[in-house]
Amino acid sequence: MPITKRSTLTQYLIEERRRYPGADGEFNSLVLDVALACKAISNAVAQGELAGLHGDHVEADMHTTNIQGETQKKLDVLSNNYFIHTNEWSGTLAGMASEEMEHPYQIPSQYPRGKYLLVFDPLDGSSNIDVNVSVGSIFSILRCAGKQNTDVKEADFLQKGSKQVAAGYALYGPTTMLILTVGRGVVGFTLDPVLGEFMLTHENIQIPADTQEFAINASNSRFWEAPIKRYIAECLEGKTGPREKEFNMRWIASMVAEAHRILMRGGVFMYPRDSKDPSKPGRLRLLYEANPIGFIIEQAGGRVSTGHEALLDVTPTSLHQRIGVVFGSANEVERIESYHKMPRTEAFHSPLFGERGLFRE
Ligand code: F6P
Ligand code: MN
Repeated sequence: MPITKRSTLTQYLIEERRRYPGADGEFNSLVLDVALACKAISNAVAQGELAGLHGDHVEADMHTTNIQGETQKKLDVLSNNYFIHTNEWSGTLAGMASEEMEHPYQIPSQYPRGKYLLVFDPLDGSSNIDVNVSVGSIFSILRCAGKQNTDVKEADFLQKGSKQVAAGYALYGPTTMLILTVGRGVVGFTLDPVLGEFMLTHENIQIPADTQEFAINASNSRFWEAPIKRYIAECLEGKTGPREKEFNMRWIASMVAEAHRILMRGGVFMYPRDSKDPSKPGRLRLLYEANPIGFIIEQAGGRVSTGHEALLDVTPTSLHQRIGVVFGSANEVERIESYHKMPRTEAFHSPLFGERGLFRE
């Protein structure tokens, strides 16, 4: 298709807005500012070591860590700054929160404040940066219930995933893509690097309900709960097992890239609650990883769960809360949820997890 026949992100947003005659355009300007941050990050990621951007962030001769104790990469810090600087000035936001900042970010006093909250993981999968594997930015837009023109509080952000106004991610892979939901399905844009525009390339993305591909970090298998052990054991038994079909496995260690694969061709992703570290009920963060990806997955006809309950119905208790996550093709996620509900799964034993099995208990 000739490039001029495609919609840009701006055109898509304006046409969507025409459905809501009362809309004031603030939301569109917010999404375009987020997209600008993503374009700047895409450029920095592509420059990589040419611009000296690989490696850890160092301040006063010290490596820095974020609130979760993870070492910050140079590109984590840069990406966080891009998100802040493209969004703080516009008057659309009451405040922001990020994986890289312990507390909510207050809009500086020289700028007006608005009605939305922006929550983001500026560079997901950043352990992959230095090895040149896909990484991405994840964002979620909420309405701020607190009083306008006062400082935002952590409590303002503690909203269920089902309250999200919009969510999206940018994926910095062989091409840079922006995937977006405003609550009416999911669309995908590809960055035209010459025009510097996100062009609509993927309309109405739908996740197939069935799949033969799963993603899980199997090195944690001895810490999994019984329902996950059962599900994986049954997949591994393939054609001759209870599932009567072969399964394939993928693990990129960039959740945003796994989510994208699942949006494009189906699959199921699990980073379930496990017993590895009792202080961490799961690996992924609820507000800026699980909820936005979950909203996108459900808008594309997939399903998202903690295993135990509907993820988008979980009431958050803290900004950086971690949670067990299962998402992807609806029938597989439903099956995993059903294993969590079955008493007999608790007593599940498979030769794979036995004394001399592949995944020793
Ligand atoms: O931000 C969390 C994250 O980087 C995800 O993108 C990814 O799925 C996961 O951590 C990888 O975890 P692990 O290091 O256990 O494979
Ligand atoms: Mn992340």
